[in-house]
Amino acid sequence: MDKKEKVKQSSGGFAKKVTASNLRTKTKRLDPPNFVYAGTLRPHEQSPMRIVDPSAVLSLPDYAIDGIPKKKGSSSIIEVKSPEDIIRMRASGKLARQVLDLAGSLVKPGITTDEIDAAVHAACLDRGAYPSPLNYRKYPKSCCTSVNEVICHGIPDMRPLQLGDVLNIDITVFLDGYHGDCSEMFVVGGKVAADDKARHLIQTTYDCWIKAMELVKPGMNYNVIGRTIQDHVTERGFTTVHSFCGHGIGQVFHTAPNIYHYTVNQPLEVMEAGHVFTIEPMICEGLSEAYMWPDDWTATTVDGKRSAQFEHTLLITPDGVEALTAKIDTSPIQFWERESTISRGVWLGTSKNARERAEGLNIARK
Ligand code: MF3
Ligand code: CO
Ligand code: CO
Repeated sequence: MDKKEKVKQSSGGFAKKVTASNLRTKTKRLDPPNFVYAGTLRPHEQSPMRIVDPSAVLSLPDYAIDGIPKKKGSSSIIEVKSPEDIIRMRASGKLARQVLDLAGSLVKPGITTDEIDAAVHAACLDRGAYPSPLNYRKYPKSCCTSVNEVICHGIPDMRPLQLGDVLNIDITVFLDGYHGDCSEMFVVGGKVAADDKARHLIQTTYDCWIKAMELVKPGMNYNVIGRTIQDHVTERGFTTVHSFCGHGIGQVFHTAPNIYHYTVNQPLEVMEAGHVFTIEPMICEGLSEAYMWPDDWTATTVDGKRSAQFEHTLLITPDGVEALTAKIDTSPIQFWERESTISRGVWLGTSKNARERAEGLNIARK
């Protein structure tokens, strides 16, 4: 997700050659002695930054070499994607989904998030895609793994996953010039390993997300998203994060519009067919304020209580919305999808086409 406060970007410099030393993480104290952690999670050692051979991918994003994004897109005008853009965004969305499913299949007690990152990195390159997070504003890894109290942007490291951990894996791929971005929750050990509060948190996060996505269609105001999410989670005793938002996406990773996951009491932009953006609410058990680790990326809750998140890249169609990162026929269905009171089974979108495909997938699973 995008930081709400616009990060000032330099206009770049000379592109450097991709070499191991240019891409190596700067040595930084990841765990300074006086830092007070909000909860029980601690950073662990990180593996060296993984290198991408530019000839191995269809295209490199403009920040791959020096870590500085150059193309920003308009900050106010929402791009309407062309039919050619949409074809390529379907492909990057589908690949992001495949990589997310692969990453999720590895979740089990004892595996490190670094091992998951290595698999994500390799899967992207296998398909000619660049893993979008890598070196984006100097982010050191190829995906984000946000465990327990981490709200977002958790950096994969050498910590072995523990039975009962809840984590979000966030995958973004850059395929042939276009980003596709999605994330899901996983419970280490599956539903039986989760306590009731964790199940309720994940179910509520999933349900508010689906409820918001169901309202997306041409002519709607973008403010319905945040209002729907906030009302749903507040009624159930949870809170919604304000410091990070969803975002327009395409050839640029984060662009207009900002998607707020909380009530904004004024009209925002109006939805139009051809807009592509993410909805990615972060919902917390306790306080929703974000607290930054010394690595300048990992955002945790301030009280050490857990946070959950789901994310899709969405395309507005003339008759509704389609998830470009929707589940495919091989995707596992999780308990929150089976048990949802908002929408049971896989959710692919609200367009006629998406509803029909979802029905097919859900019948095949029965
Ligand atoms: N995938 C995240 C999002 O949903 C962004 C990650 S940026 C990174 O927008 F640099 F942390 F990888
Ligand atoms: Co995103
Ligand atoms: Co994401």
